[in-house]
Amino acid sequence: MQLRNAALATVFALLLALTASEVSAALDCLYCHRPMTMNKTVHAAVHMGCPTCHENLDVRRVPHLNKGPFPKGLRAEVPALCISCHEQALFEGNMVHAPVNTGLCLECHNPHSSNYPGLLKKKPAALCLNCHSDIENSEHLISGLSTKGHPLGNIRENVEDPKRPGKTFYCASCHEPHRSTLPKLSRYGLGMTSCQTCHDK
Ligand code: HEC
Ligand code: HEC
Ligand code: HEC
Ligand code: HEC
Ligand code: HEC
Ligand code: HEC
Ligand code: HEC
Repeated sequence: MQLRNAALATVFALLLALTASEVSAALDCLYCHRPMTMNKTVHAAVHMGCPTCHENLDVRRVPHLNKGPFPKGLRAEVPALCISCHEQALFEGNMVHAPVNTGLCLECHNPHSSNYPGLLKKKPAALCLNCHSDIENSEHLISGLSTKGHPLGNIRENVEDPKRPGKTFYCASCHEPHRSTLPKLSRYGLGMTSCQTCHDK
């Protein structure tokens, strides 16, 4: 531990001789922060470099000096930061999911990397059930036909979504996670005809 600190002190001494922009070029953030990029899927923005989002950090000292107005040296606050690259239209409309409407992208997404699809913070169905626990033991959609309700993707986890090849079947197979033009954030509507989207009869 002491050896590591001595090595770091040497690194810092060398870096203090450089200007801030030379430092960000010379200093590999991953030397100290690699674990956050070690999950299965890495956000494409991270491949563009940490300063893509953390633009205002002077990392020659630890804790780093934040030279900007936003937390963690970010270029903008979430969700403005995200919307600077992702199309705003994906997150607005007359029916927007409450946490999206309040800009809580980070309740569901990890900005760096994730072991789950879509940079999600948890397993897909578990993520939704975390806030909608009442759905788990409800007769969701098929009361009368079953006492358990429609499968939700939380018990059998690797069933393929019949309408979205390559994606897992779970809540977001039937619901839009961000916004929808249909009530209840649904993808295919509410009536019994919507069942035929995936079932023959
Ligand atoms: C020498 C090791 C080291 C290097 C190199 C380093 N960091 Fe850090 N960083 C740390 C440590 C340790 C902390 C936690 C310090 C604290 O806030 O208590 C930290 C914290 C942070 C934080 C959180 C700040 C906060 O306010 O919570 C961000 C963001 C960050 N680093 C980004 C970067 C970026 C971007 C780079 C490259 C340009 C970088 N770091 C390079 C060691 C390092
Ligand atoms: C797409 C924008 C984006 C990129 C690119 C990015 N970060 Fe972050 N980072 C964020 C956001 C947003 C937060 C705030 C997370 C929070 O508050 O929960 C954050 C937080 C952090 C923190 C604080 C610890 C934590 O997890 O909250 C560290 C450390 C950090 N980033 C380091 C890095 C490093 C190192 C890189 C490059 C490998 C990087 N970031 C690239 C957006 C980004
Ligand atoms: C510098 C540009 C940039 C910023 C800022 C940015 N992203 Fe991204 N993001 C990308 C690119 C490029 C991709 C890959 C192409 C795509 O899916 O649009 C991507 C992909 C994604 C994906 C899909 C990942 C997958 O594997 O399916 C999610 C989710 C995501 N970003 C969330 C966020 C969130 C949340 C923020 C804000 C914290 C954010 N992004 C900020 C550029 C950015
Ligand atoms: C309630 C959870 C939740 C919130 C809040 C949320 N997302 Fe998502 N997001 C998801 C899920 C789930 C997916 C994957 C959907 C799927 O299975 O196709 C996704 C997918 C994405 C994608 C990939 C492209 C797409 O549309 O499928 C991007 C980019 C993205 N989200 C960005 C954001 C940004 C930016 C915010 C904040 C404005 C945000 N998300 C807020 C749950 C959320
Ligand atoms: C951070 C908490 C949170 C997460 C995570 C979350 N939701 Fe929500 N959701 C809410 C809140 C708050 C509301 C609005 C209050 C309500 O109707 O319960 C809502 C409402 C809904 C509605 C009803 C919309 C309407 O028009 O009545 C649906 C459907 C929904 N969420 C689906 C999902 C799905 C699918 C996921 C996972 C991709 C998810 N939620 C994840 C908090 C969350
Ligand atoms: C097979 C398609 C399907 C799946 C899978 C599904 N839902 Fe739904 N969900 C619907 C439809 C359609 C409605 C609206 C009709 C209704 O309430 O009967 C709905 C309604 C809702 C509502 C609003 C309830 C209310 O009383 O207003 C919430 C919240 C919700 N779903 C969350 C979830 C969550 C969370 C999951 C995953 C754990 C999930 N749904 C899985 C199709 C589905
Ligand atoms: C987005 C596609 C999709 C839609 C829409 C959909 N389902 Fe399903 N349904 C599935 C999949 C996939 C399974 C198998 C899931 C599994 O085995 O985990 C399933 C399974 C079922 C089952 C068997 C349940 C069990 O416990 O074995 C019934 C019954 C059912 N669906 C009825 C309905 C009804 C009624 C509707 C309309 C209200 C509907 N489904 C809408 C995809 C869908």
